[in-house]
Amino acid sequence: MPTADPRSARFAGRPFTHAQHAGYRGITGLGRQGPKLTSGMDLVDLHFHLLPGVDDGPADLGESLDLARAAVHAGTGTVVATPHVRPDLGITDAREIAERVRELRSKLAAARIPLIIRCGGELGHEMAFDLDRDELDLLAQGPAGARWVLVEAPFHGIGEDFHAATTELRALGFGVLVAHPERSADAAFDGAAGLRREIAAGSKAQLNALSLTGGHGEDARRSAWELLHDGLVAVVASDAHGPSRPPALRMARETLLDGGLAPAAANALVATAPRELLARGMRRTPVAA
Ligand SMILES: [Fe+2]
Repeated sequence: MPTADPRSARFAGRPFTHAQHAGYRGITGLGRQGPKLTSGMDLVDLHFHLLPGVDDGPADLGESLDLARAAVHAGTGTVVATPHVRPDLGITDAREIAERVRELRSKLAAARIPLIIRCGGELGHEMAFDLDRDELDLLAQGPAGARWVLVEAPFHGIGEDFHAATTELRALGFGVLVAHPERSADAAFDGAAGLRREIAAGSKAQLNALSLTGGHGEDARRSAWELLHDGLVAVVASDAHGPSRPPALRMARETLLDGGLAPAAANALVATAPRELLARGMRRTPVAA
């Protein structure tokens, strides 16, 4: 019977230092007290496969509505619908996504599901050269001048092709939120060198909630906690797809607290920081060249 890597158990339980907590306050722009979650509808999910029949998320409208209900039940008030935007999976026409989001909003309203849906996409990095600025803008979040795009971290690693794509996006005026870098071989086997280069160029990192508990495997779990300890994570999102990958922000918050993160930082990662990314966008000032 296989046994877990004995190193892995220590990452979740390893205390976060004062400096690490201070670092998260810096990342999230929070004061010492941080935010309190005062209602059941405070969570904001930036990565969520909700559109029916377009990718490996819900197969039909019924499954989409079930997933939306699950999000509301778990305390989520806003989700960005982020279908895969890749030539091999999902939609490649950004205008079609916008139309499908409008349709889904009307279905949610008819079903009396109080979930705010924003139009987005999980961009395959190779698409950065195929979509023009207007098409990318349909997928982007944040106010004018601080728009940003969710870009999928390749499982095989964050390499030169990825950096070239994000450089192109920045040249077009978009910031980059790197989706689930902890699931990439870059984090597991290369010390997250590619992600660190991205962050130095101004990108931010989005961790998957399920990675925290091992739902994406032991490598991803270990990497997730390492990235957290290294202060590289800006937000946590569900990357929900359906019953096997459900809305998980509330679960993530509990797991972060169990793992030793202070409540202010945990609340920020699942609520305040994603909300701020939607409201204020991503500053285009690189930390380093
Ligand atoms: Fe995704």
